[in-house]
Amino acid sequence: MTQERFRTIWLKDEITVEVIDQRFLPHRFITVELTTCFDAVDAIKKMIVRGAPLIGATASYGVYLALLEIQKGDKPTEYINQAFEELANSRPTAVNLFWALDRMKKAVFSQNTLEEQLKSAFAEANQIVEDDVETCRMIGVHGLPLIEEIWGKNGHQTVNILTHCNAGMLGCIEWGTITSPIYQAKEKGIDIHVWVDETRPRNQGANLTAFELTKHGIPHTLIVDNTGGHLMQHGMVDLVIVGTDRTTRQGDVANKIGTYLKALAANDNNVPFYVALPSTTLDWTITDGLKEIPIEQRDQNEVKTVFGKLDTGELASVLICPETTPAANYGFDVTPARLVTGLITERGVCPASEEGLTRLFPEHKR
Ligand code: MRU
Repeated sequence: MTQERFRTIWLKDEITVEVIDQRFLPHRFITVELTTCFDAVDAIKKMIVRGAPLIGATASYGVYLALLEIQKGDKPTEYINQAFEELANSRPTAVNLFWALDRMKKAVFSQNTLEEQLKSAFAEANQIVEDDVETCRMIGVHGLPLIEEIWGKNGHQTVNILTHCNAGMLGCIEWGTITSPIYQAKEKGIDIHVWVDETRPRNQGANLTAFELTKHGIPHTLIVDNTGGHLMQHGMVDLVIVGTDRTTRQGDVANKIGTYLKALAANDNNVPFYVALPSTTLDWTITDGLKEIPIEQRDQNEVKTVFGKLDTGELASVLICPETTPAANYGFDVTPARLVTGLITERGVCPASEEGLTRLFPEHKR
């Protein structure tokens, strides 16, 4: 992998989708081939791929792979319905999954023959991927002025940004959402330093965000999840930018567990708290995030163990609590719109409110 932008999902050939196995970063760069719909479901469930836009893209190719299985005679024609259902049940919170499956349903069921369905599904999945690349690039274009403003105001001193989880290119296809303005700021010669929350229990910050920032030569410091408040109290954070898995029409933001606490600390310390998101992460069908966004609960062993590289170079999990201690593993939390300074989308930056969002996306006005 080079300094240049890379992709997280690609076609190896017309019957094989390849993804980076994100479970082993930053220690091993391993790729996995997906040749069946089950492979796509499994990749999403096991978090081989993760991050809202990438989950959606993987599911899109999953539909295409299901049609290929039908074409080969490995599955009956009706399997396509089961494929949609299994993909929809792979993870509950990121709305991009359901958005992508809706788009794929239209592409598939508008066709008459299997050959036409295959062609249409292939084109649509590829388009979903290409659209995400351009969308994330535009999030950077609109987010960059926020960083430029701080850089101008502070007399061209380093801009300190805090982020939680990984909403970088590894969660998307290229660019990333929160990283797009950061990478574009770097290209403009702005000094940036990123505080990276480790993001227990899966450590997406330590494993993935730190990996990406290293590859891009962005200065960064890893912190434990509870450090952000202290840094903000001491003026060491200029800006918080996080991603999201689902944002409601009134601007409530679901993101990786712990995001809400960062928003509270930012609010208490007058630190701007922005959320970068493609419009594919907006769920226009719901309003109240606390009541309406399904929060994923994962296996308790993710909390009870830590996975990493031993001195021997081997990768291993170690238990960090008594074997019998039960653990709760909520994957996401909801930050109410009132704590969000603004939403950075591909169409511009807006307040986290229905009015703000529908000004940018008037087609969703009611
Ligand atoms: O559980 P994950 O790793 O899929 O959670 C990812 C996040 O919470 C990201 O912040 C979000 O999906 C945005 S990715 C652009």
